[in-house]
Amino acid sequence: MEHFVTMKEKSAAEILQLVKRANEISQKGVNPLKGQIFAANLFFEPSTRTKTSFVVAERKLGIEPLEFMADHSSVTKGESIYDTAKTFEAIGANLIVVRHQEENIANQLAESLSIPVINAGDGTGEHPTQCLLDLVTIYQEYQKFKGLKVVIAGDIKHSRVARSNAIALSTLGCEVYLTGKEEWHDDSLAFSYVSMDEAIEIADVMMLLRIQHERHQQRTSMQQEGYLEKYGLTVEREAKMKKHAIILHPAPVNRGVEIDTNLVECERSRIFKQMKNGVVARMAVMETLLTKGGNFNEEDFNKRQAFIG
Ligand code: CP
Repeated sequence: MEHFVTMKEKSAAEILQLVKRANEISQKGVNPLKGQIFAANLFFEPSTRTKTSFVVAERKLGIEPLEFMADHSSVTKGESIYDTAKTFEAIGANLIVVRHQEENIANQLAESLSIPVINAGDGTGEHPTQCLLDLVTIYQEYQKFKGLKVVIAGDIKHSRVARSNAIALSTLGCEVYLTGKEEWHDDSLAFSYVSMDEAIEIADVMMLLRIQHERHQQRTSMQQEGYLEKYGLTVEREAKMKKHAIILHPAPVNRGVEIDTNLVECERSRIFKQMKNGVVARMAVMETLLTKGGNFNEEDFNKRQAFIG
C-alpha cells in the first residue's frame, strides 16, 4: 500500500490487517515513529472530526503536522491544488492528507507525488479513513464481518461514506442493504434497496448518513418534509431493532432529521465511539504507509491468521 485513497481493489486481508492494527493500537498504544516526519493536512472543505483526529493521530505517532489553512494560503492567489501539494512535498512533507470538494483529486495527487497521499474525503467520491474507523467500530462489537447485515441509510447518492463502506463491507463478506429517498438512490452501487421499516428488522448494523445539503441543487427543509418520520430512525423504529444491533453515523448529525435526538447517545449508539476510533484508524493507516508501505504480503498475512486462528 503506497497511498490510501480508495477502498476499491483492496483485498479482505489488506483491510483486515488495518482494522486489526487500529484495534491493537487502541488496546496497547504505539511507539512513536523514528526520525523527523512532517504531514501536510490540506483541507479545502470544512471538517471537525477528520482534521482534528489526523492531527492527534500524527502527534501520537511523533509526526509533526504542518500548518495549512486554505483561506490564508497561496490558493487564494490562484495556486492550484497540485502546485500546493508539490510545494509541501518540496519543502519536506513526508505525507499528504487531502480533503477537497472535487471527486478523484486524491487519486490524481497520488499519481503525481512521490510521498504517500491519504484521501480525507473527495466530493461525492470516497472517504476511506471514515470507512476504516467504521469497520474498527463494527469489529470491536462483533469480532467478525462475514454474514453481518449492514444497512446504509439516507443520502446514498451524495455520500462518499456510503461508497467507501459499501465497497469494503461487501469485500469483507457483509450483506449490504441500502435505504433512503428514491431520488437519492445510486444505481452505481449494486446492492438491494429496502424500506426503513424493513431495514430496522434486518440490520445488525444501522449505518445512518448525513444529508449532504451542500451537494444538493436546492436546500429543502427536512423537518417540513417529515423526513425523520418517513426515512429516519425514530424512537418507535429503534424499539423494533434487533436486540444486539448497533447504530452508526459518521457525523456531523442533523439531530431530529436522520435520527431522533434522543437516540444519538442511546445504548445502541456508537457514534462517539466512532469518533474515538478515528484516531487509531488514522494512526494505523499512517504507520502502515510510512513503515511498511509497499511490503504488504497477503500470503504471509493469511498464513499468520490461520496460525492465530
Ligand atoms: N465524519 C466526518 O468526516 O466529519 P468531519 O466533516 O467533521 O471531518
